[in-house]
Amino acid sequence: MKISFSKDSLPKSGAVALLVNGDGTLGKLATQADKKADGATRRAMKSANFTGAGASILEVPGCKGFRDGLVFLAGLGDNKKLDPLSLERIGGRLMERAEKNNLAELCVVMDEAKSFAGGAGEAAAQIALGAQLRAYRFRKYKTAAGKKYRKKRNGRDIEPPKAPAQLTFCLGSEEKAKVARRAWQPLQHLGESVDMVRDLVNEPANILFPKAFAQIARKELTPLGVKVEILGESRMQALGMNALLQVGRGSSQESQLVVMQWNGLPKNKKRKPVAIVGKGVCFDSGGISLKPPPNMGDMKADMAGAACVVGLMRLLASRKAPVNVVGIIGLVENMVSGEAQRPGDIVTSMSGQTIEVLNTDAEGRLVLSDAIYYARERFTPDTIIDLATLTGAILICLGRDRAGLFSNDDSLAGALYQAGENEGELLWRLPMGDCYDKMMDSPVADVKNIGGGRYAGSITAAQFLGRFVGDTSWAHLDIAGTAMDSPITATNASWASGFGVRLLNRYLADRFEK
Ligand code: BES
Ligand code: MN
Ligand code: ZN
Repeated sequence: MKISFSKDSLPKSGAVALLVNGDGTLGKLATQADKKADGATRRAMKSANFTGAGASILEVPGCKGFRDGLVFLAGLGDNKKLDPLSLERIGGRLMERAEKNNLAELCVVMDEAKSFAGGAGEAAAQIALGAQLRAYRFRKYKTAAGKKYRKKRNGRDIEPPKAPAQLTFCLGSEEKAKVARRAWQPLQHLGESVDMVRDLVNEPANILFPKAFAQIARKELTPLGVKVEILGESRMQALGMNALLQVGRGSSQESQLVVMQWNGLPKNKKRKPVAIVGKGVCFDSGGISLKPPPNMGDMKADMAGAACVVGLMRLLASRKAPVNVVGIIGLVENMVSGEAQRPGDIVTSMSGQTIEVLNTDAEGRLVLSDAIYYARERFTPDTIIDLATLTGAILICLGRDRAGLFSNDDSLAGALYQAGENEGELLWRLPMGDCYDKMMDSPVADVKNIGGGRYAGSITAAQFLGRFVGDTSWAHLDIAGTAMDSPITATNASWASGFGVRLLNRYLADRFEK
């Protein structure tokens, strides 16, 4: 889908979307368009009782004076000031309708509305982002050969709909079109980076195994100016990363650690980096503590934390963010074989702490313990944030709408929470403390990898990680509920949501770029 911003006030071709104020009134350009259609849109609003509620859409077919005869009315809602997320939702809903109507071209007429804080130009860019995010589909494996066997069914993505080839915004003046184009640039990078994460998470594990993942990170990020290093098993062995390595032992795929450095600050401005660490379990069968068959296929997405780190690095580099960030991802496959680790095994992690592995399905924390310790040792980061599809328990606790937030630093937790609210990637903080920490004590090693029984499963997982962060300011995001098997929303129709990139980008921007 090509997105462009035009100085025209009304489109020359294609279907049209007009914006309707929350009080049901039309702006100047929409009034003009309504006249052209002999008042058809106003009549339709009246008979459908369309009031312009936020992100509501009314389809008006058969409009004279427009090439496709189709006009969408999109409600702005009665907000005094429209926030970016409301505008995105409008874009998403318009895209949904454009797809349903199989449109080749859609043009959004951008009347200047009082509620656009940044003017029509910036509003157009924000609507464009919503449309672009909604248009994403994982189409890669839908072939022409299979197409003749596919019919429209009510399930998701049996035949993924096509976005229009062209999405245009009519701003009414070159000046406003320029503002829109300038505002679109960083948002386009953002949208593309989120889509990249979605692609990685949707990709099956026979294609995206650890080595393949590491190569993609190198290929995508190096040209953007990110320094990418890949450590294989022998280098990790030399470093003593046994906790991570032991998870990968049952797999024929070699484990990898990828270190990505983006130094956006000028050389003379020395500053400790922020480290972002991602769980990259390319497939999690559970190992010898094998998972039950239902939904095991979902575990191709157990690398969503790592995918998010790669997407974030891509975004920071492509918008040349003035921050120093190091991304570290541990890539492994958790499989069953005669080589696989056993429940009861004791492993010495890179930190020197010994871990009793009582459940091989609690593998993410083993991978992260070494990746986090490596980040600390090598970079003495100012802050560590890890992302992981770590526990099923977080779904029981928070469902699919909020990710779990754990931290040893109230101000970091507050900043992340707020970034999430602003970007629509919601978090909820859960407690940590001694009473939970002692549930991880092992009688035979320094720590065990599961708590007692089923209680507080997400918290005990966080406590485990907490034993490897030292005094570093640290936050852990459990994204098992928000990264995959996502509900369809205005701006996401993909199984993998791409969760986390926006949140961390906003946190870094608010903290370092103001
Ligand atoms: N990758 C899973 C967590 C998960 C579950 C992610 C569902 C997404 C959806 C993780 O490795 C795991 O298996 N965790 C166990 C921990 C338990 C053995 C202590 C779990 O949640 O059951
Ligand atoms: Mn597991
Ligand atoms: Zn896992």
